[in-house]
Amino acid sequence: MQTWQHSVIYQIYPKSFYSHAGNATGDLLGIVDKLDYLQWLGVDCLWITPFLRSPQRDNGYDISDYYAIDPSYGTMADCDLLISEAAKRGIKLMLDIVVNHTSIEHEWFQQARSSLDNPYRDFYIWRDQPNNWESKFGGSAWEYEAQTGQYYLHLFDHTQADLNWDNPQVRAEVFKLMRFWRDKGVGGFRLDVINLISKPADFPEDHTDGRRFYTDGPNVHQYLQEMHREVFEGHDLINVGEMSSTSLEHCIRYSRPESRELSMTFNFHHLKVDYPNLQKWVRADFDFLQLKQIFSDWQLGMQAGGGWNALFWCNHDQPRVVSRFGDDGEHRVVSAKMLATALHFLQGTPYVYQGEELGMTNPGFDTIEQYRDVETLNILRLKRDAGESEASSMAAIKQKSRDNGRTPMQWNGEANAGFSSGEPWIGIPANARQINVESQLDDPDSVLHHYRALIALRRHEPLIQEGVYRELLPDHLQVWAYLREGHGERLLVLNNFYAAPCEIRLPDHLISTAIEQRLLISNYPDCPLRSSTVVLRPYESFVLHLKD
Ligand code: GLC
Repeated sequence: MQTWQHSVIYQIYPKSFYSHAGNATGDLLGIVDKLDYLQWLGVDCLWITPFLRSPQRDNGYDISDYYAIDPSYGTMADCDLLISEAAKRGIKLMLDIVVNHTSIEHEWFQQARSSLDNPYRDFYIWRDQPNNWESKFGGSAWEYEAQTGQYYLHLFDHTQADLNWDNPQVRAEVFKLMRFWRDKGVGGFRLDVINLISKPADFPEDHTDGRRFYTDGPNVHQYLQEMHREVFEGHDLINVGEMSSTSLEHCIRYSRPESRELSMTFNFHHLKVDYPNLQKWVRADFDFLQLKQIFSDWQLGMQAGGGWNALFWCNHDQPRVVSRFGDDGEHRVVSAKMLATALHFLQGTPYVYQGEELGMTNPGFDTIEQYRDVETLNILRLKRDAGESEASSMAAIKQKSRDNGRTPMQWNGEANAGFSSGEPWIGIPANARQINVESQLDDPDSVLHHYRALIALRRHEPLIQEGVYRELLPDHLQVWAYLREGHGERLLVLNNFYAAPCEIRLPDHLISTAIEQRLLISNYPDCPLRSSTVVLRPYESFVLHLKD
């Protein structure tokens, strides 16, 4: 077993985690302050979103210096302290590396834009004429650079210029900066949109936005193998790739050990179940059957191909899961626990995003002035240009905006949810007075204690790490039921995704008097399973260990 196969990783969005200095934004010393809490929770590793120098146009995903800490987060000494204090508690730190693109304020781009024959010109991707590719944040993926009369490619904001990975000097610089951080003692890397780094030389276009040409592009596996040789080989690192619009086949290749590329991959297919016809910016309910189907396909496919999944519901780009697939009102606590259980018993490495362990909800921002995210603001502009009504645009934004997941961590019921003594950079949901760490630490029935129990179970229960996944009742319209099996034992995981109670019938051979049952976890005080027919209560979920 590899380290990450029994680990749980916690994601920190430092801007919104904790401000040691009492500023509008969080900082690295704020993370140091909260390490005891993270150790208590039981996580093995922290993925911290980018805190390197950046103009912060995309909250740090626009890096202007890979060797410096952004002053808003602190100093290099703070970072060294964080690494060593985390290590003392047995916690590794995973650095978020953004190398599909740099900020246009990066020295390389400043050089590149200055003349056609500058040695850095070929660090980026230039064309005399744009093709029809679109930016993932809306609009054309090409920006005109007047000084040299050419367009540069930016798959994200126009201030995030794509690096030219076909240039060996670019790869050498990337591997060098990764070695710098590895040698400082980080325990691994989270590689931002890493499956977009290889673009086809002829920049083809057709009726699509271009993504099919540059997603999992022509040389991506070769470049990741090179990264493995140059940076990872011989070091105990956990490396996860963020894979945008990817495929199962490619994720198997990226993450199976024989490929010598990455430890595991994130994909987003299960989070597009509320994108009707793949359109994100439309308000819509989620498709439950599709959600189950996608998870099952990936569980079975990765299992068969020897790949490894990164499992997650939430991150800094996604709305809060309890508001999305659960119920953030009356059934908030049970539904947050159910969603956690459904995910944490799958094959892969679970990620917990700050505040998810409390059942934090979307903030419900109603006016555009409350939003900060560059993507959200770009989209509203495009919707206005297209003549969409303000009411319909805002309904979509309220449901889908990335700011839903970016409000400050709720530490206590005091001013600013205990996040900072200063005025936070973004608003705080009114329910922070009830939903916070302090109140849940004292409550053994809280969402927080449920997450802590799940994290501990993964470490100690081999079937969670290695058991073979098998779906039950695939056509059931409100229950996701599955097994994890091995060595004559199995875990039975039952999850009701809705408020309506419902009866299900399990295969008779699973539940018989000859079979020993042990309840591992549940979200109601008692477990109702006595026979193969069972009525699940609102959002009920439980896991039984069954032994022949
Ligand atoms: C990833 C990040 C996201 C960022 C984008 C561009 O998807 O998670 O926050 O905006 O890459 O770097």
